[in-house]
Amino acid sequence: MIKIHGLSYFVAQIENLDAWQRYAEDVLGMQVSPAPGGGLYVKMDERPFRMLIVEGSEKRYLASGWELASEAAFLHAIDVFKEKGIEYQTGTPEEIDQRGVQAMVSVIDPSGNRHELSWGHRSDCLPFISPQGVPRFITGDMGLGHTVLPAPNFDATVAFARDVLGFQISDIFNFRPAPDAPVTRIYFLHCANARHHSLALGEYPVPSGCIHVMVEVDDMTEVGRAHDRRIAHDVPLSATLGEHLNDRMTSFYMKTPSGFDLEYGYGGLQVDWDQHSAFEFTRVSIWGHDFSVGRQ
Ligand SMILES: [Fe+2]
Repeated sequence: MIKIHGLSYFVAQIENLDAWQRYAEDVLGMQVSPAPGGGLYVKMDERPFRMLIVEGSEKRYLASGWELASEAAFLHAIDVFKEKGIEYQTGTPEEIDQRGVQAMVSVIDPSGNRHELSWGHRSDCLPFISPQGVPRFITGDMGLGHTVLPAPNFDATVAFARDVLGFQISDIFNFRPAPDAPVTRIYFLHCANARHHSLALGEYPVPSGCIHVMVEVDDMTEVGRAHDRRIAHDVPLSATLGEHLNDRMTSFYMKTPSGFDLEYGYGGLQVDWDQHSAFEFTRVSIWGHDFSVGRQ
């Protein structure tokens, strides 16, 4: 079984890197620097980057980067792909250098999402110094946060995440937008860390290639300050402040320059998986999170 430790990074694309530079520095409160081979590193902890933004004709999310603990774990992942007949691509020297890892392979899931698996991230361990005074983001062993990906080919994609990539289901949401509307499934999955979910899969297509990415701060005040910066920089709101039922994250959602949403939150659950029972929840939030604001 593949054992993923966490969401190491994601890769997104935009026509003009300046927009992401301004968004990262002015709104998210993160640091930016040039990435090797072109592109932008967005730094939110002691690592050189957690978001890699590259230039391209289309605004979109390109890949999720998943971390393995060691070379042995990495080679085992390749064995699993071979055993299960999963097509994989070995990272080029340029890709490996840009992501700052020892080795990388990529696979495409049955809904077309690209997953990159790597080991041995490179870091100068320089401290994170936020241009907006954000003390810290909660990362470390729990990865950068979580990513929620479109999975119109739902059953096959959940099976791929579980049986190939080794994620396990945290809990499930059968979303029914109206009493007589068909159910849209959203499944939440965890890997080998305490974060309630590092990956979620939603049963619908999304043109930007991602439903949202979540980053977490360790103080509710920082969520409010980020929300003030969102207003000051005219970043569209996608969902109002609210508290999720399943991972208890108190957060708001806003647009990124690459067209997908970003959840900025506080207070997410850290779970002891030996004590956890997966469950089905029937409303997405205990309070707030009005997503209709993002559709206006
Ligand atoms: Fe989320």
